[in-house]
Amino acid sequence: MANNPSNVVVTRDLAVELNARVAQVPPGQLFILTDQTTRRQCLPVLQQIPALAQAPVFSMEDGDDAKTIDTVVQLWQWLGEMGGTRKSMLLNLGGGVVTDLGGFVANTFKRGIRYINLPTSLLSMVDAAVGGKTGINFNGLKNEIGVIHAAEAVLIDVRFLTTLDGRNLLSGFAEMLKHGLLDTPSHLDRLLAFDFQNPDFSVLSDLIALSLTVKQRIVDQDPTEKGIRKSLNLGHTIGHAFESFSHSQQRPLLHGYAVAYGLIGELYLAHKCCGFPQKRLVEVVRFIRENYGAFEITCDDYPVLYQLMCHDKKNEAVGAVNFTCSTMWARYIWIAMLNRNSSTRAWISTATA
Ligand code: GLY
Repeated sequence: MANNPSNVVVTRDLAVELNARVAQVPPGQLFILTDQTTRRQCLPVLQQIPALAQAPVFSMEDGDDAKTIDTVVQLWQWLGEMGGTRKSMLLNLGGGVVTDLGGFVANTFKRGIRYINLPTSLLSMVDAAVGGKTGINFNGLKNEIGVIHAAEAVLIDVRFLTTLDGRNLLSGFAEMLKHGLLDTPSHLDRLLAFDFQNPDFSVLSDLIALSLTVKQRIVDQDPTEKGIRKSLNLGHTIGHAFESFSHSQQRPLLHGYAVAYGLIGELYLAHKCCGFPQKRLVEVVRFIRENYGAFEITCDDYPVLYQLMCHDKKNEAVGAVNFTCSTMWARYIWIAMLNRNSSTRAWISTATA
């Protein structure tokens, strides 16, 4: 099984891309994973492909709550009952929950079968489905159990985006902003010029392709996140804290909204610690405020948010919180470690291009 994180294709005709890839799979060995929504909205596109018309379909529940070991066991059992072998292929049709869980099941069933991700949300197209991170939530912790092993291919049909609502488009777009901030000023400019009042899907499709080149370049250099791949956590240390906090307060944020607010905090840190330009900071903050609105917190919430950051699983030392700081102007990324005294020291600097 090839561990090739670069095998990502953006297409407007999934059938053409998929046909060639499923042609070699033995009869009866193709399986499809969806959730309830993608079964309804996206599966018909797949079932127009003759080789897939009769492929068995397992539909998990919608949402992050279903990303559990129980669902994994059900899917392992189902694959076994349906005659799955080491020559089987699993097609994961859905957002990040489906591609994360389906990838984990494929990487573990019979010690690993082939799988292809067919992401249907913008978030999974530009992030979750790409780069080989798979896993499930466990013990109340997100993505606590998993493996990193890339899909044989990631086929992105941008037509699926037309079924997404504006909030889910914005959620995925936050990861694209992150990629722009890890790339060139002109890439960031193109993102900041995107008009969500009148979204142009052909422009969005070009921006997705641009985003994927940034993610692939980083993942290709460091598939197992020992160094530069940590830069893909930009916005996520504070973002994950906002996300968990919002759930505990019963005013849940979509992941990308939390990342967008996290980007504001971490770019401010980058401005203070690493010279991220103030003009850029102002532009990004304005874009986020205009499109994502604000998430209200008060000073009383700081201790809880700080505790959540201290428990971020990316931290490597007790009492320290890691942040990715983009410098942008020099295309250098710093991973800063913030200690309890709030002094920062940069300990990794890596050119991204
Ligand atoms: N979502 C961040 C990564 O793939 O590394």
